[in-house]
Parts: sequence; C-alpha cells; structure tokens
Amino acid sequence: MTTPSGAAGEAGGVGGGSGGIDSTLVENRRFEPPDAGALGVGRWHVGSAEEYRRLHEESLADPEGFWGKEAGRLAWFRGWEKVLEWEAPDARWFVGGTLNACYNCVDRHVQAGHGEDVAIIWEGEPVGPVTSHASPGSKYAAEPEVRRVTYRELQEQTSRCANALRSMGVKKGDVVTIYMPMVPELAVAVLACARLGAAHSVIFGGFAPHAIKERVADAGSRVIVTADGGYRRGEVVPLQKNVEEAASALSGEGHRVEHVLVLKRTGHELPSRRFNTGSVGAGGAVYHWWHEAVGGASDACPCVEVGSEDMLFLLYTSGSTGKPKGIVHTTGGYLVYAGMTARLTFNLMPDAGQVFWCTADVGWITGHSYVVYGVMMNRVPTVMYEGAPNFPGNDRFWSVIARHRVTHFYTAPTAIRTFMKWGDDLPAKHDLSSLRILGTVGEPINPEAWVWYRRHIGWDRCPVVDTYWQTETGGHVCTPLPGAVATKPGSCTVPMPGIDAAVVNERGEEMPAGRGGLFVIRRPWPGMLRGVHGNRERFVSNYWGRVKDPATGEPYYFSADGARRDADGYFWVQGRIDDVIKVSGHLLGTMEVESALVSHPGVAEAAVVGMPHEIKGSAICAFVTLKPAWLRSEGREPGESLKKELASHVAREVGALARPDQVRFAEALPKTRSGKIMRRLLRDVAAGVEKITQDTTTLEDFSVVSRLREDED
Ligand code: WTA
Repeated sequence: MTTPSGAAGEAGGVGGGSGGIDSTLVENRRFEPPDAGALGVGRWHVGSAEEYRRLHEESLADPEGFWGKEAGRLAWFRGWEKVLEWEAPDARWFVGGTLNACYNCVDRHVQAGHGEDVAIIWEGEPVGPVTSHASPGSKYAAEPEVRRVTYRELQEQTSRCANALRSMGVKKGDVVTIYMPMVPELAVAVLACARLGAAHSVIFGGFAPHAIKERVADAGSRVIVTADGGYRRGEVVPLQKNVEEAASALSGEGHRVEHVLVLKRTGHELPSRRFNTGSVGAGGAVYHWWHEAVGGASDACPCVEVGSEDMLFLLYTSGSTGKPKGIVHTTGGYLVYAGMTARLTFNLMPDAGQVFWCTADVGWITGHSYVVYGVMMNRVPTVMYEGAPNFPGNDRFWSVIARHRVTHFYTAPTAIRTFMKWGDDLPAKHDLSSLRILGTVGEPINPEAWVWYRRHIGWDRCPVVDTYWQTETGGHVCTPLPGAVATKPGSCTVPMPGIDAAVVNERGEEMPAGRGGLFVIRRPWPGMLRGVHGNRERFVSNYWGRVKDPATGEPYYFSADGARRDADGYFWVQGRIDDVIKVSGHLLGTMEVESALVSHPGVAEAAVVGMPHEIKGSAICAFVTLKPAWLRSEGREPGESLKKELASHVAREVGALARPDQVRFAEALPKTRSGKIMRRLLRDVAAGVEKITQDTTTLEDFSVVSRLREDED
C-alpha cells in the first residue's frame, strides 16, 4: 500500500489561511490518540489521558521523587546525594553524582550485549548526476551512499577520536568547536568530546566565517573539528575554507586556534590547497586529516568521569542583542531530560523495530537532543541524512523514509509547508507504510499544514506531536504524548511530566482561558540552561528577571514566547515577543542582521523586522538608510542592484539563512523621541498592514512614514 487512506478523522473545522497562526484561534478539530495495537506500536509508555494526568500531577507533587526515578535510568559512576539544589536562578541537579554522556549513549549498550545493534543509519546526499568528486571514479551514483554504524563501531570511533583530540591538548573542561556536515563523524566528534569530559560547541554548517569567528572567540575554543566540504543540493559547501578564514581573522585579533582536525568528505580541493597532517596553515593552526589523526589513534579510551553539573556543551543561539548567546547545558540534568522526553514524546523503546529520523542538523538543539543524545540513550537507531530535501528531486525525504523503513519522522513546519507546495503526488509515490509517529518542531504550525502532514505523510493513522521547546529548555516542554493526549492542529497541547508551565501576565498572574500572555515555567527542571557562557547578567536578565511568582517573589523562567491556553488547558504558542525572529524555523536576532548591514560601507543605519511568509513562517525585511557621500563617491543609485548587494553582504557575514527577503531604502528610520526605532510600526509597514497601530505622534520624522509607505507600491 503506497497511497494515503481516505479522509478519515476530519471533523470539518476551520482550515485557516496559510502561514499565519491567527487561524489557530478558531481551530476546533480534535484527534484522539490511536490504539497501540491498531497502529502497530506494541504498547504506549503512557497510554491514556488519565495516566498522563496522574503522571503530571505526581511529578509536580513530588519533583524529587519523579526526577530521581528518571535519573535512575542512566548509568552513573557515583550516585547523586541530592536531586536538586535550587537557589533561583541557579539549579544544581543530581548533586554529587558522576557519569559520562558518551558512556550512556554508547558504551553501556555495548556492555549490555548490544554492540552489534545499529546506532546510526546514515545516507549521503550524492545520487543521480553528481559532481565528479562525489563517488570516486564515477559521475553518476545510482544509489546514495549508506552507512550503518553499530554501537561497537561507535565506541571504537569515539575512542580514537577522543585520543586524537587529547593528543592536541584537549582535556576535561575545554570547549571544542565542531563545524561539520551531517555525516556520522559529526556524531562521533560530539560524543568523543563527551568521552573526554570536554564540552562541544557545534556550529551549524550554514554559518559564515564571521559567525564562526565570533563563536570560537566567545567559547575560547582552541581546537576546531571540520571537514573539507559537505554536500548540499549537489554543491560542495566549503567548510574548511570557512574555518581557515575564521582562524586567520581570529589570529589577527590575538586568539590562536591551535589545531584543526579535518575530515575528508568531498575531496574537492585543488592540489595547491591540499595539506599534510601536521602542517601549519591558516591562522597559525596545525591542520590534521581525520583519517590520519583519528585513524592512527588508539581505540582504547575510557570514558572520563565527570560531575553531573559539569558542562556537556555550549550551543549558540540568537538573542535580542547582536551577539549570540552561548547556552550552557550540563551533563546529568540534560541527559536525564533529553532521554526522558525522547522516550515519552516518541514512545521510544529498544528492540521494537523503531527507526527514528529527525531531519534537524546537529548544529541546532533539535539535532543535539533528538538526533544524538536522546535517541541513542534509548538505544533506537537514529537516521542522519547529509543533504537537502530537494536533491536530486523534491521527493528525496520520502525515498529516505521508504529505504530505511523509518518509523518516526520529526521535522519543521517550514519543511511541511514546502512539501505541501511541491504536491501531494510526491509522498504518494513512496511507501510510507513504516511510519508510526510524526513530529513537528521549531515554530508554530498552521492547522492547514498540520492536517496535510497527518493525512499525506501519516495516512491519517499516525499521531502528530507538535513539540514546543527551546535551545534553553534542553528538550520538549509542551507536547502531546502520542498514546495519551488528544491533539488539536496548531496546539502543542499539554506540558511534559515534570514541567510546571503557565501563561501569565507581566505580574506573574495566570491568565484566564483564551487570553494571551507570556509562556513561563514556574519551577526548575533538569534540562534547563545553566547559564549564558561568560555573561551572568544576560542569563539573569533574559530569563529570570522578567516575571515573578506574585505570592513568593520567586522568579519564573521566561521563554520570550507569547501563548494562550484554551478551556481544555491546551497551550497555543503564538511566537516570540522579543527582537528575534524565526526564519524557516531558525532563530535569528534582528540585531545580528542589522550589524551585518551596517558593516557595509554604504549603510548608515538599518532596522530589521520579520514579516509573514507563506513557507518560511517569517521572512526578513530590512529597512536601510544609505550614506549619501558613499553613494556619490561610488556613483551608486539606491536601486535593485544595491538591494541585492546588501542582501548578499548579510549572507556572507552571517550565513545564507540570514539573507533578507526584502531590502527597503528610507531617508530616515522612524524613531521615538528617546531615539528607539519604532519596530512595531516597521513590522506593520513590512506586513503591508494598512492602519498604523501605534501612536505616531512620537515619531521623530513624520514624513518618513509616508515615504516608507510609498515605497510599497
Ligand atoms: C519556537 C527549537 C511554536 C518558539 C527547539 C521558541 C515553537 C523558539 C515550537 C525556540 C512549537 C519551537 N510551536 N513555536 N512547536 N517549537 N518554537 O531555540 O518561538 O531554535 O521560543 O529551539 O522556537 O527556538 P530554538
């Protein structure tokens, strides 16, 4: 059977327009959790609404008992003395306990006799008429390259890689930067750091040299793991070159990268740019080939015992200043939380024939928690796919699912909207009968896309779990548990067991049903961030300084998302209320884009806002004022070609994901008397909203509004 079943399960309801989330306000469809036997999942970990409610209640009534039990699922070198020490906003979880993350993901499975089980199923991108270096000796790959990595191989590889890193001076407490394509060695590098007790900082492969530079410097990282290149849409992404550029720029600023470990993935470099392991290259760093340094290292490397609160990783995320924040996660709490949420949200269980595919890059938190840690801790094979969803055709994802008999598919709303646009016939051509559970993450999903996903990918039988969470939360905080919670398209439904979520006003008072407010978490949970690297003030003020318990004055965790709860207690997340936007599910600080723009010699001032976009959710609109002197001296016009140039400039500085969709020139930016840019007004102008929803009498320059509006025509 390769075609979707009929339109069962539809209760009519209001479909809503595409893209926006307003339609969720009137959404009234509801889907009951399927029977485990009928769906063919064996059993549910949590199998009824009643069971979920009990679990959630118990977890809040006795948090230490609940989390202690969860932590008991991990392997500890030494048990903890105390589940939680909480001195707001500082939490210490599983105090006194010691463990190792790589041991929990890999070694313990080998020791339990599962060494030959598959840990990673990897598929490379090249297939069809590909670039010449894709598969040696051939310009045409009929089948994609597939590798299956067992836990035993992973144990060996992470040991060798850890030894290679150690020989470069990496030790417990250091931060290793990883900038790699989606290949098994990326997971190996991540786990090898954990094996050594070093922290990793993975940078998404789509970021540009300047963004790498900033993150390496902030982390104080001396070792970078990268690859010569990676494949994306049939092209080579020059990763090593980007690292070299970053390393050179860093050395100019007094930060020396000491070692760069390079995986040969594409082999595309010209002989003139090839290097020998051990040679000094760009930025004064010593460059090493992975196959030599890792291949030649010993495969014996015991997992280093680390404290529960030792840092496992740093992951940079965008904030409302121009500088990205290094979110700190520690070992014990993060692992407990990633493991539990993966198990409950996706009903993961070993030896049940499950194959889990999360399409996120490991460079984002979703990839950390649900490509690597959470899935491996549950001993379920995780799929890694290297490339783009539209190479060589728009049905690549569906062929991956069919080829590997994927049971769990987890992707982003922006991807789902793209698939809708590409047509129902593409998934219908492939055998998606292995699928059991579908997930979505990263931004609010419009009900129309949700329902399409359920019908055309899940054939109306797989539950859809809309998982709401953040880099800072470590794992899902609101999501339906697939066997227990009825779903409503567009709602992330109910809190994870252990999570005390609420929608409150600025005074911390809970909002009545149906009324919008701020999404907060009222007490600590193990997966919570422990800090912003090197910036205590930002940690405290961004997350803990905004809303308090009105009775006790204890701070609540502030998400910066707006949300409401309906009469059934379901959460509907509406999106960010700070100056960050979600573009295709990727978080971007508007200030980051603005500073990239003003680094162009022709730009005097820039203001960046999000505007609604059918596929991407939000797109970037940049308002720019130019320097008249520059225009004159360069003989330039403020026209289309300059707009293109500025958009490319941003892509070069930050990465392609930050390329503005629209650049608009203005003579001056609208500002309040105190000099603050009127962003709400600019958002309305960008969205083409007719009415100005803000009192404009505080504008510095009235004429600017009309001029910006003229620009719309
Ligand atoms: C948004 C990604 C609605 C939200 C895991 C949050 C969502 C930000 C959802 C964090 C969802 C994530 N429904 N909005 N299911 N999931 N978001 O740090 O605005 O990249 O604050 O983590 O994504 O993005 P981040």
